[in-house]
This record gives sequence, structure tokens and C-alpha cells, in this order.
Amino acid sequence: MKALVISRLGDPDVLEVRQVPDPVPTPGQELVEGEAGGINFADIMSAQGGYPGTPKPPLVAGREFCGIRSDGQRVMGYAQWGAFAERIAASSALVWPVPQAWSAEEGAAFPVNYFTAYFAYWKAGLLQKLADTPAPRVLIHAVAGGVGTAAVQIGKLLGVEMYGTSSSEEKLARVNALGLQHGINYRQRDYEEAVKDLTHGEGVDAVFEMLGGEHTMKSVRCLRDFGRVIVYGAATGQPGQFDPRMLYAKGASVHGLWLTYVSAKRELMNQAWEQLSEWMAQGHLRPVVGHVFALEQASDAYRLLLERKNFGKVVLNLT
Ligand SMILES: NC(=O)c1ccc[n+]([C@@H]2O[C@H](COP(=O)([O-])OP(=O)(O)OC[C@H]3O[C@@H](n4cnc5c(N)ncnc54)[C@H](OP(=O)(O)O)[C@@H]3O)[C@@H](O)[C@H]2O)c1
Repeated sequence: MKALVISRLGDPDVLEVRQVPDPVPTPGQELVEGEAGGINFADIMSAQGGYPGTPKPPLVAGREFCGIRSDGQRVMGYAQWGAFAERIAASSALVWPVPQAWSAEEGAAFPVNYFTAYFAYWKAGLLQKLADTPAPRVLIHAVAGGVGTAAVQIGKLLGVEMYGTSSSEEKLARVNALGLQHGINYRQRDYEEAVKDLTHGEGVDAVFEMLGGEHTMKSVRCLRDFGRVIVYGAATGQPGQFDPRMLYAKGASVHGLWLTYVSAKRELMNQAWEQLSEWMAQGHLRPVVGHVFALEQASDAYRLLLERKNFGKVVLNLT
């Protein structure tokens, strides 16, 4: 079968479309005919050699897909690698039916973004709004990206006041249309100052932080009393820096979130799916697919994320 292979560790040029043997499902797995694959920042890190738990190359890339199961059902699924291929041995616990009205590209754009965004709200303690309390405030970094746009759709359903950062006015305008109330262009304005102004000096209840480096500390400074920073990535390539002593004053906290880890917790995943599928059935969630590439153009597709040029999800056609 045809597959996208990480031939050696390095930048997106190391990706090669090759013929490889079909995967053989092990107990608990099922075979899916791949239609589309969703690209994640983690795929870039896996190719570079910076993603924990990834086997050495050569390795079939991809952690998220949409395809057809042997019973004819279109499913979307989550894996750690092996998803960008004509056939995928998928864990049965981590495949879900795709709504009929959705395209394969939309299916491939769902699992990582929406489960991650859902669990970010869960970790922030914001899934249930307390009666008679003002709308909670959340700062979402990379709000125009894959996880960011999913977090905006979910935040809208939860009644959250959302603040989001992006490098571009054009991207922010598009996320505003999804329901983001306060866009902050960090190339024009320091987001910490902007949050302070926009919240009358009070700060936000939670920050979804996936940048690392100095941004972890800056994000803590954006919090109001008892706020939480949910750390779930390091797109700058720098480990997050922060001084735990900063947490004392406001009773603030920093929480980690890693879908790879959470996805092994069957009960948590089932609870998340119960809520997400209900919202999907009501028509409230719809993945934002910004770009679709042929498998042969995977290097360009990966680069789009690296160069911050993507809006929403970047998807590969696997057929
Ligand atoms: N822990 C988990 O389980 C988990 C799960 C999914 C994703 N993540 C993390 O979440 C983050 C977003 O992932 P995604 O796949 O949805 O990607 P994405 O947000 O669609 O794309 C990355 C975006 O990040 C922004 N960005 C800001 N600083 C950047 C930098 N130094 N380099 C590159 N991009 C930068 C850019 O948007 P602007 O130009 O608008 O700033 C870029 O478009 C990544 O850090 C990823 O590792 C973690």
C-alpha cells in the first residue's frame, strides 16, 4: 500500500511517499481504508525526533484519520503513528462514527482537536457553568489553528467569554465569525497587556497554553484569582518557563494535558465522546478544514503549520 513515511529524523523534507506492507491488525484493532488524514503539530515534532514515545524511522507518519471500516461505516480515529496510509490498523476503542453530512476531510479534522479542546475545558473546571455566575473568561493561544478553532466552538456552547491570540488580522476575522469575542494580534500588541485592558485589570479564569518558553509565565500573569493555565504544547520549541512562586499570590495553578495519555483512559474518553457526539448531532460542532493537500505534497502541508500560515486544520488526501 501507499503510505507517508518518515524516512529519517528532520524537517518536513524527510517525508516520502513509499510502498510499504499492509498493516496487520492485532487484537483490539481493526482495519480501516484510509480516506483523509489530519495533520497535527505533533506530526512535525515526530518527524523532527522530538515527540515522546515515537519509534525510530523509517515509520509511517500520522496520528489521525478518516476512512471506511469493513462494515462500510465511515469512521474517524486517533493513533500515535501509522495513520497516513491507504490502510490503517486502528484501535477499536479510538474510532468513532462520522456524521453523514460530513466529508472525509472533516472527519479527519475532528479527533485530536476536539478531544484536546474538550479536555482543556475539563481541566480548567469550566465544563459546568455555575448558575448566576458571570461568564468565565478563557484566553486561547493559536486561536485560529486546529485546536484553537475547536476550543472556540466548544467555548461558545459553554457560554465562555473568549480571548484569542493569532499572528494575523485575517485569521482573527475568520475566528470572530466562529464566535471568538476578543481577538488579539500578538504581532501588533502584547497579549498580556491586551488581556489586562480587555478585562479591566482582572484577568481570565483559564489560559490554553501551547507555546512554551516565556509564554507559560506570561499566561500565568494573565490569570485572575484562582485561575488555571492548561499547558498542552510548546510550539516555540522551548520548554515552558515559570516560577511556581508566582502561583501563591492568586491561588493560581498550572495543569498539564496530553491527549496521548488521556486517550488510554477509556472512561474519560467515553464521557468526552458522549458530550461531543451530542453537540455534533445538534449541529453545533463542525471541524474547520482550512487546507487539503495530496499525500505527495505532505512536506508543504507540514510546513504550513510550521510557518504559521494555516487556518484551522490541514488535511491530507489518502486515496
Ligand atoms: N497536549 C496535547 O494533547 C495536544 C494535542 C493537540 C495539539 N497540541 C499542541 O497544540 C498546539 C497546536 O496544535 P495544532 O496541531 O492545532 O496546530 P495549529 O494551532 O493548527 O497550528 C499551529 C499554530 O500555532 C501558532 N503559533 C504560534 N507560535 C508559533 C510558533 N513559534 N511556531 C509555529 N506556530 C506557532 C500559529 O498560529 P498564529 O500564526 O495564528 O499564531 C500556527 O498556525 C501545538 O503546540 C500542539 O503540539 C497538544
